[in-house]
Amino acid sequence: MIQNPVTPLTVHDLAALKRRGEKISCLTAYDASFSALIDHIGIDIMLVGDSLGMVVQGHDTTLPVTITDMVYHSRCVSLARQRSFVMADLPFMSYTTPALAAKNAARLMQQGGAQMVKLEGTRVDIVRFLVDQGIPVCGHLGLLPQMINQLGAYKVQGKTPDEAEKIRLDAHLLQQAGASLLVLECVPADLAATISSELAIPVIGIGAGVGCDGQVLVLQDMLNIGIGKRPRFSKDFMQEADSIADALRAYHLAVKQATFPSSQHSF
Ligand code: KIV
Repeated sequence: MIQNPVTPLTVHDLAALKRRGEKISCLTAYDASFSALIDHIGIDIMLVGDSLGMVVQGHDTTLPVTITDMVYHSRCVSLARQRSFVMADLPFMSYTTPALAAKNAARLMQQGGAQMVKLEGTRVDIVRFLVDQGIPVCGHLGLLPQMINQLGAYKVQGKTPDEAEKIRLDAHLLQQAGASLLVLECVPADLAATISSELAIPVIGIGAGVGCDGQVLVLQDMLNIGIGKRPRFSKDFMQEADSIADALRAYHLAVKQATFPSSQHSF
């Protein structure tokens, strides 16, 4: 039997990075070629995000993405990686009950090779149930793209004191329910820094300032190859790079050295 000399990072390794004060780098990935390259650069986490509905499938929102799509792309990514931790999104309406969430999370892990599933919102009942079945969970607060039809627009969340306090308390509830990681999307940098310092679990920001324990960006945005408008909080890392590999390396280093995001890419 051929032994793989490199083993993937575990949820404990991610927790240790936070304890040591080392920033965590994360990028979305949807296919084997980018998975191998991102893994080779040393990015800690690859997120198979349901953003694939927009950047791969060409939809306006993430809502049309199915669990079968997510399993397919998770498998493409997990087969090509060696070291990076792979986490996958539970798509819209795939976790309306604990039993449905567990069935779909099991598919992402058994067929897709994901090590953790991510779900949007403060579904503490679902998080607790999944964690009880041995499924590591990442929460996602702030801007929730699956709620776009209620939100009306992709915009910064937690701007008023009441909204900010709700996000802060929800973050604690998710941690108490057993989440091992939290993504904060499009929230003021000071709120995200407070939450990151209060929680024991790593907090990964996207449009949430440099005070988070790590950063994630959508791959197509940071390579400036997306079909839509790049969000203000993202950065075109291709601008000063000679190759895609150089751009990925620059992003990885900027996250590790806490030079990204600057105030220009924060709220
Ligand atoms: O789907 C995705 O890519 C995400 C990130 C925006 C965090 O959830």
